[in-house]
Amino acid sequence: MQVPTHNTRGGAVLAGLGGWLPPRVVDNHELSRRLDTSDEWIRTRTGITARHVVAPGMSTVDMAVEAGRRALDSAGADGERVDAVVLATSTPDHVCPASAPQVASRLGLAGAAAFDVNAVCSGFVYALATAAGLLACGAARRVLVVGADAFTTLLDPGDRSTVPIFGDGAGAVVLRSGRPDEPGALGPFDLHSDGELADLLIVPAGGSRQKVSDQPSDHYLTMRGPAVFRHATARMAESSRAVLAEAGWTAADVDRCVGHQANIRILTATAKNLGLSADALVVNIGHTGNTSAASIPLAMVDGVLDGTLKDGDRVLVTAFGAGLTWGSTVLRWPELRCVPL
Ligand code: ACO
Repeated sequence: MQVPTHNTRGGAVLAGLGGWLPPRVVDNHELSRRLDTSDEWIRTRTGITARHVVAPGMSTVDMAVEAGRRALDSAGADGERVDAVVLATSTPDHVCPASAPQVASRLGLAGAAAFDVNAVCSGFVYALATAAGLLACGAARRVLVVGADAFTTLLDPGDRSTVPIFGDGAGAVVLRSGRPDEPGALGPFDLHSDGELADLLIVPAGGSRQKVSDQPSDHYLTMRGPAVFRHATARMAESSRAVLAEAGWTAADVDRCVGHQANIRILTATAKNLGLSADALVVNIGHTGNTSAASIPLAMVDGVLDGTLKDGDRVLVTAFGAGLTWGSTVLRWPELRCVPL
């Protein structure tokens, strides 16, 4: 689905950015003491050296509130109404209700529309498109979009094929309505899915199909890693090409690519497939791991702070996740301030 967001009402403009990581860091050496793995295997196969992990009792909402507060501060949104909170997550605090209303209340945004979007690791791009739609149709003038996941809570602690890959965290942006030619204006968007391949990355039990399983492993994430890898590289490149064509850009126009931080090899293979230099990639997976819906805004924060993302850069954003889902968008990077993760 290709979604041009520049209609007569205007565009969705990136106006604030923030992110937050839980304090507990688990590095590869600690994992190697617990699992049959090694720092060398994890680093060379994934690019990850450490990840942040929620402490017992800390949740997705807790992280989303911290990231949301920082994005609001970055936007200088004090006193200005936020009409909606869109939370991208596949690890909500509860199966029911959605987590976004609690995020809104804890941020003092009571009364704002608030709902969750679940497109797993593509969730942030889907949530940006959803928020852009709210702005385009006039239902909101200012939207807080948060990507937050406590993905480590879905993992079998003894599974060496998933534990090294994932980390926890939250990232957020403020979008406001504005002109489509302003710096920070998002779009067009390109969004897709393929539910036939849901089994490639799935938590089999806990939902309405099978509430409780007598097999404890059914309550943990199962992943067919090599198949996910192949689909991720192909779909992110395909979607990036589509969104660039819709925007009237070529790969040569892209200064920076902020891709979902799943695996450094997936990012570099996607860049190669697109004809982008590896230097164009914004990469922070080394210290975060795969934080699912949080990964893109967290990479943006690190990109701004280390100078990789600069005012005026033409930026491609692309993601892939369980579902399967994938999608992309583009923007010209605006002047933004944010604080370290
Ligand atoms: N430490 C040591 N050895 C390991 C580990 C580990 N942590 N995990 C697997 N191995 C072994 C395997 O058992 C296998 O051994 P064998 O050859 O004796 O059978 C060998 O390493 C190779 O395993 P592969 O799975 O083929 O390794 P691969 O190079 O494909 O890397 C990985 C695995 C990192 C999971 C890769 O496939 C990948 O990144 N896939 C994508 C995963 C991903 O991005 N998931 C998230 C998607 S986004 C979302 O929505 C959640």
